[in-house]
Amino acid sequence: MSQTPILTPDADGIARAADALRAGRAVGMPTETVYGLAADARNGAAVAAIYAAKGRPSFNPLIVHVATLAQAREIAAFPPEAEALAHAFWPGPLTLVLRLRPGAGIAGLVTAGLDTVGLRLPAHPVARALIAAFGGPVAAPSANESGRISPTTAAHVLDPEGGLDGKLAAVLDGGPCAVGLESTIIGWRDGQAALLRPGGIPAEAVEAVLGHPLARATTITAPDSPGQLPSHYAPRAALRLNASAESAAAQGETWLGFGAPGPLSLSPSGDLAEAAAALFDRLRAADRLGRPIAVAPIPDHGLGRAINDRLRRAAAPR
Ligand code: TXA
Ligand code: MG
Repeated sequence: MSQTPILTPDADGIARAADALRAGRAVGMPTETVYGLAADARNGAAVAAIYAAKGRPSFNPLIVHVATLAQAREIAAFPPEAEALAHAFWPGPLTLVLRLRPGAGIAGLVTAGLDTVGLRLPAHPVARALIAAFGGPVAAPSANESGRISPTTAAHVLDPEGGLDGKLAAVLDGGPCAVGLESTIIGWRDGQAALLRPGGIPAEAVEAVLGHPLARATTITAPDSPGQLPSHYAPRAALRLNASAESAAAQGETWLGFGAPGPLSLSPSGDLAEAAAALFDRLRAADRLGRPIAVAPIPDHGLGRAINDRLRRAAAPR
């Protein structure tokens, strides 16, 4: 039995979760990417509770989630490129880092004192219902301990091993996350759009809307996204990349295949969207087996770039 209640996302569950947000407490919120640890973005003490629950270094800014574009415009100014991306991809797995409007009421802890804010309009109906019922902007990082694997089910959020059970008011159960990888983060430096974190919207799709290539995060300076820290999304076990099934078997590793069958295959048919949705769940399942983990090569285009980004960080020395 978990200490933190899991709420069915019916009218009563949404109302209870919105009440908890109003009371300044943190709530597990399903989104189409990963589960978020949500709190009132205008309440510094509530935001502090997020950092405390995650054990997150306090200089990492959080994404603010809104239910409408109008709400987003109250928080940040939208230059034409941001406008175009919001129209193309919202609601959906895209975060825009934009200049914060002075007086928008966002707690300084959310932006870690930066003059920019990460904004996202999620597509998951439960997230949108919760934010609408609450009536204000909601700060939400992924609902996992800092540096660990992101949660894609309500059970992951409360996982007895490294989950957040007892550290939040409730979790709304919105089912497994359809995308399974965090949002793509786009920011602007000197007017130049940059990919700050690959994620659920392929960079190529963003570039198609903009009509030009994105700058890479490495070509711009701090503040960095902590998703950009070398070691992140880390399982407990060691992780080896670009591994064949044969080499994994020879070395006694648990193998996560791609385009091949197997109990922990990311996608037997080699489908990148299916692999993205399965990635964090498979990493957790493999980690529980207690052996080193080896992962098959993943094509490095579309969602594969975001998958490989997460895998490289999960495999990085810690
Ligand atoms: O899909 C997602 O984005 C999920 C769901 C819950 O929405 N959220 C998520 O949050 O991944 P989190 O806190 O784990 O990652 C947020 C990323 C961090 O890497 C943070 O540094 C970056 O967004 N970020 C937020 N505001 C920023 C800002 N003003 N400038 C640069 N990076 C920012
Ligand atoms: Mg995270």
